[in-house]
Amino acid sequence: MSLLKINDMTHRFGGLTAVSNLNYELEDGKIYGLIGPNGAGKTTVFNLVSGFYNPSMGEINYNGEVINGMAPHDVASRQIGRTFQNIRLWEDMTVLENIKMSHHFKLGYNLIDVFFKTKKYQTREKEITEEAMELLEVFKLTDLAHERPSSLPYGIQRRVEIARALSLGPKLLMLDEPAAGLSTADVVELIDYIKWVHETFNITIWMIEHQMQVIMSLCDRIKVIDFGQEIADGVPEEIQNNPEVIKAYLGDGAI
Ligand SMILES: Nc1ncnc2c1ncn2[C@@H]1O[C@H](COP(=O)(O)OP(=O)(O)OP(=O)(O)O)[C@@H](O)[C@H]1O
Ligand SMILES: [Mg+2]
Repeated sequence: MSLLKINDMTHRFGGLTAVSNLNYELEDGKIYGLIGPNGAGKTTVFNLVSGFYNPSMGEINYNGEVINGMAPHDVASRQIGRTFQNIRLWEDMTVLENIKMSHHFKLGYNLIDVFFKTKKYQTREKEITEEAMELLEVFKLTDLAHERPSSLPYGIQRRVEIARALSLGPKLLMLDEPAAGLSTADVVELIDYIKWVHETFNITIWMIEHQMQVIMSLCDRIKVIDFGQEIADGVPEEIQNNPEVIKAYLGDGAI
């Protein structure tokens, strides 16, 4: 059984069709790439799957359940983690607090417990802090636990964001342009890091990326979309040599 199956999904923003009759299937444990020129609809696909938008048409099945129309926190609690094209970390909080925040909807205490600092609150708070510190240790970020994200290099902020996305134990990790804004050296490190995450947590990874080095060295399978529609799907070698793909990226003069 596939982990994620998208059937005939379309999404319109007013008169603009951002995603058009898209079909998708992700199998457990592999690394998938979604590529296409600027404005092709890639982020919209991620936003549809993670519950930020409700598709105009079509169905999204995840782990045997229809998830379209669910709120983002309901999707996240079904073990889908994601990062964003522009890093979204809470700048006023420390790295540790950022990780802890992702646990807010499975806290196990309510507002009364917080207000009166009940034993339940104190115990659970301690547990969450310990869990978050363990996670930081796994990701070799312990030394940065009390730093604010804005004081850290961009490559490290990406790692914190990926660690946060993994903190709820997803089966599927979605990365929207993880290499954007990174230096060449940082891109090489990121590739190793994603490989490590994939091997260590044994999860399915689905990434959008413009940097072909990242896509081609990591992905088992790649889908290419343009104007919201699929133009190619295959293994890296097939995609690299596909004339439709070259044309979409470089324009009519390319072939
Ligand atoms: N909330 C929105 N409201 C209206 N139009 C939108 C909205 N979000 C995206 N679009 C439009 O939908 C199309 C697809 O956008 P999307 O962000 O999904 O592209 P993308 O493939 O992620 O591009 P990029 O590589 O530049 O990130 C674009 O034409 C964009 O302007
Ligand atoms: Mg995008």
